[in-house]
This record gives sequence, structure tokens and C-alpha cells, in this order.
Amino acid sequence: MIGLLRDKANRSSISIRTELDPELPLITADRVQLQQVLMNLMLNGIEAMKDASGELTITSKRTEDGPVLISVRDSGMGLPVGEVERILRRSSPPKRRAPAWDCRSAGGLSSRMGAAYGPH
Ligand SMILES: Nc1ncnc2c1ncn2[C@@H]1O[C@H](COP(=O)(O)OP(=O)(O)OP(=O)(O)O)[C@@H](O)[C@H]1O
Ligand SMILES: [Mg+2]
Repeated sequence: MIGLLRDKANRSSISIRTELDPELPLITADRVQLQQVLMNLMLNGIEAMKDASGELTITSKRTEDGPVLISVRDSGMGLPVGEVERILRRSSPPKRRAPAWDCRSAGGLSSRMGAAYGPH
């Protein structure tokens, strides 16, 4: 997935960095939904930084509260107050079968999957 986005990121002078824990436990999850959520978050991050160069960081690690935490962090402006709520409420699925990169329902998916937006 990161490979798919590198070209787009390069065009805006955005670098993509990963900090992945090599010793994560195996988790059970819906692969397609996870891909949709992560793709949306990464695209949002790139979109937010496209006018100024920046860095997109994808991190995975173990936490005390759950088995695995995956985070997508960008060095853009951040979200206006209230926008977080709106994004997490979006839950209507796409009307037609969407290609993998069409992530319209990812906001709703993220909330069902326990996503949180926050400052870093
Ligand atoms: N990382 C971010 N930094 C700044 N603004 C963001 C970020 N992520 C989302 N936003 C803002 O929140 C809005 C909603 O995001 P969301 O992913 O729900 O929809 P979208 O990206 O506009 O469209 P879609 O994901 O359906 O193609 C974005 O248009 C953008 O204005
Ligand atoms: Mg989006």
C-alpha cells in the first residue's frame, strides 16, 4: 500500500517513513476494511501536506490497552475542532462496489474499528 502512494507523495515532496514493530502478535481482522481505513488515513495525510513538503509516518506497536496500535501521522496543519467528530460519524457505505482506493466509508469503518484522531 505504501508503494502505491509513494509516487503521489513524491510529487508533493512528502516522505513516507515507517516505524513497524517486527514482533507484533498476529491479529484477526478484516484485511480489506483495514486497507480501506489505512489508505484513507494515508491519503488524507498526503492531501493535508500537499502544498508544503512534509512527512507521513506509519507506526505499529503493542500497547497496554490492546494487542496492536497502528498510527498514521502527518506533519500537516491538523484537523479543526469538530471535524474529528464528523469524520468518525461518517458511516454510509459506498453505493456501488468501490475499487480498493475509494475509501468513502472509511470514516465510519474507523470508528467501528476503534480508531481515534488526535494531536501528536
Ligand atoms: N490528516 C488530516 N489533516 C488535516 N485535515 C484532515 C486530515 N484528515 C482529514 N482531514 C479533513 O477532514 C475531511 C474529511 O476527511 P474524510 O477522509 O472523511 O473525507 P475526504 O478525504 O474529504 O474524502 P474521501 O476520504 O471520501 O475521499 C478532509 O476533507 C479534510 O478536510
Ligand atoms: Mg479521506
